[in-house]
Amino acid sequence: MSQSDGAPLKVGVLFSRTGVTAVVERTQLNAVHLAVDEINAAGGVLGRPVEIVEYDLESSPKVAEARARDLLETDGVRLIFGCYMSSTRKAALPVVEKYRGLLFYPTLYEGFEFSSNCIYSGAAPNQNIVPLARYLMREYGNEFYLVGSNYIYPYETNRIMRDFITAFGGKVHEERYIPLRPSEDELRTVVTDIARFPGSTIISTIVGDGTTGFYRECRRAGFDPATMPIGSLTTGEAEVAAMGAEAAEGHITSAPYFQTLDTVENARFRDAYQALHGAAAPISACTEAAYMQVHLFARAAEQAGSTEPGAIKRALPACPFKAPQGMVSVDAENNHTYLWPRIGRVDSSGRFAILEDSKAAVRPDPYLINPAEEDWSRRASHG
Ligand code: ACM
Repeated sequence: MSQSDGAPLKVGVLFSRTGVTAVVERTQLNAVHLAVDEINAAGGVLGRPVEIVEYDLESSPKVAEARARDLLETDGVRLIFGCYMSSTRKAALPVVEKYRGLLFYPTLYEGFEFSSNCIYSGAAPNQNIVPLARYLMREYGNEFYLVGSNYIYPYETNRIMRDFITAFGGKVHEERYIPLRPSEDELRTVVTDIARFPGSTIISTIVGDGTTGFYRECRRAGFDPATMPIGSLTTGEAEVAAMGAEAAEGHITSAPYFQTLDTVENARFRDAYQALHGAAAPISACTEAAYMQVHLFARAAEQAGSTEPGAIKRALPACPFKAPQGMVSVDAENNHTYLWPRIGRVDSSGRFAILEDSKAAVRPDPYLINPAEEDWSRRASHG
């Protein structure tokens, strides 16, 4: 073991323990800890225990840039797991590129990006935006109202959403943005505006704490989810737990993973996660992606016989992992991950009932070059 003599392998972990998106990022942090515990219990990576060096991103791009620099310049780390908000990924990535590190990014995002120093394990647009738009148009009609938080991810997601909706004969009445920390007034104003279009489907790209207020305000306004559902990519189990089942019931989310998924790997993952982090701890697609990408890394390092970022990256496509969502693997051409698109609806107990499932992992297409190839046609319907 020439490179290390069994010395700990330090990896960086960058999530927001505090800040507007902490509710979901804390679950990602927990998931990385669980995966690292599992890997260490099995002997580590190339005989080395994995040691986490962890900083709080505070949901802030400035902090993300500074903490990425700390990891790479001072802590001697080259492998980093982290980031939820696209604004923090975009702030950290140039630093990771400069120091030839590798960032494993476990969050759905807007696509249209490639860095040879980043592995993207959350959903690309063809794996969640397109399936959501298609499902909502089929089930709820052609009229939409888009509302998001005021930063890059919602803008870019809504650009794709609008293109898809209008290309297939739908209409977007309005596209509105609210602050990352919306006041009650700001939430009321946008919900009052939505009420001008009864029966429209709402697409929410609101993230973090604002999600709770928005869903509750829609409920208070009397919007019936049977005819005016909120469709989202960012409202997962953590956000639903924060707002409560009453506000969330009947609303729809598109994601590659739901806590309710019935797979052997998911039962094992759920049990292990909740044993470590609490029996009621919510687990979302972002949590699962944070977990499985650490296992992808460990498998690739073993296969490469190296912990060098370049060697790991080259080995990754040949190292699939049986994740809770299904078998996942990294695409050699675009560094994104084959995932299993699904559609879920929140039930009265705050759990996602899975309405549509894919029968195979879908190839990531971050630039939407081959929208016809995303193979959603092979979906299985759960009625
Ligand atoms: C996100 O900002 N990618 C959720």
